[in-house]
Amino acid sequence: MIKKAVIPAAGYGTRFLPATKSQPKEMLPVVDTPTIQYVVQEAIDSGINDILMIIGRGKRAIEEHFSRNFELEAQLRDKGKEAELALIDTLPPGVRIHFVWQHEQNGLGDAIRCAEDHVASEPFAVLLGDTVLESYEERPVTRQLMDVYAEKEELVIALEEVPEHHVSRYGIVAGEDIGDGLVSIRDMIEKPSMNEAPSNLAVASRYILPPEIFSALEVVEAGKGGEIQLTDAIRILLSQRPLYGCRINGRRHDLGNKLDFLKSSVLFALKRSDMKDDVASWIKELSASLEG
Ligand code: UTP
Repeated sequence: MIKKAVIPAAGYGTRFLPATKSQPKEMLPVVDTPTIQYVVQEAIDSGINDILMIIGRGKRAIEEHFSRNFELEAQLRDKGKEAELALIDTLPPGVRIHFVWQHEQNGLGDAIRCAEDHVASEPFAVLLGDTVLESYEERPVTRQLMDVYAEKEELVIALEEVPEHHVSRYGIVAGEDIGDGLVSIRDMIEKPSMNEAPSNLAVASRYILPPEIFSALEVVEAGKGGEIQLTDAIRILLSQRPLYGCRINGRRHDLGNKLDFLKSSVLFALKRSDMKDDVASWIKELSASLEG
């Protein structure tokens, strides 16, 4: 049973400068909702009530977003703005969010290390704070992984096929399909070149990890980009136990990447009943003007 989620959100977000010089990329809004709120909602909708966020310098806005703002609440209540009041109620009752600092941004593996005291000896879910996973079914993507974990009780990572020219952005796996959308993973490589990539199956920002990941992270040395890579620690565990990849029924929106951010903002607006007609007619006008 997975009860805890860890959301790393301490990275510098250099791909999104200058916006991220003084604000967290995880707070950049997709339409009107910060990226990290979609991520938190995915954890909650998956049945997780205990969420640990890894934050660092310049990330206070995330803490404030998930805290209550009594002054604003009182103002909205006085003015009878009930709809707006509901919008700032970011957490349902019973959900607890904790924060821990990563003091130096030494990579995703290093960020996960900061969760050790909180998750202790339990398996846990990891959801990257700058990536929204849209599910094509009722179960959120993290829940799809949790259901695999319930059956296998082993490491599970989300997988998504990517175009060949995108393999250098992600962790890429080598493995065999074993049915039911599962892949038995033999190896994985972080951000390979097109020639090095063993497949086009990319790790899609969601993981179910066992507590043994912490001892693996202890022995991992800085890898690509001088960072402690989570992929390297998972490879250590892979030499000792099975690792399952779950082909997700959904798709990744990598919002730390400018072009994907723009595309996702439009796609999300098209899903909103209050916006879709206006956005669709603007897109038609725009594409006609580009063709003309
Ligand atoms: P990214 O790989 O996108 O890293 O992290 P980044 O450093 O923030 O981004 P760029 O490449 O400089 O633009 C994926 C997730 O892991 C977190 C990030 O905040 C993001 O949500 N992360 C990354 C950490 O918490 N700590 C780190 O040291 C690195």
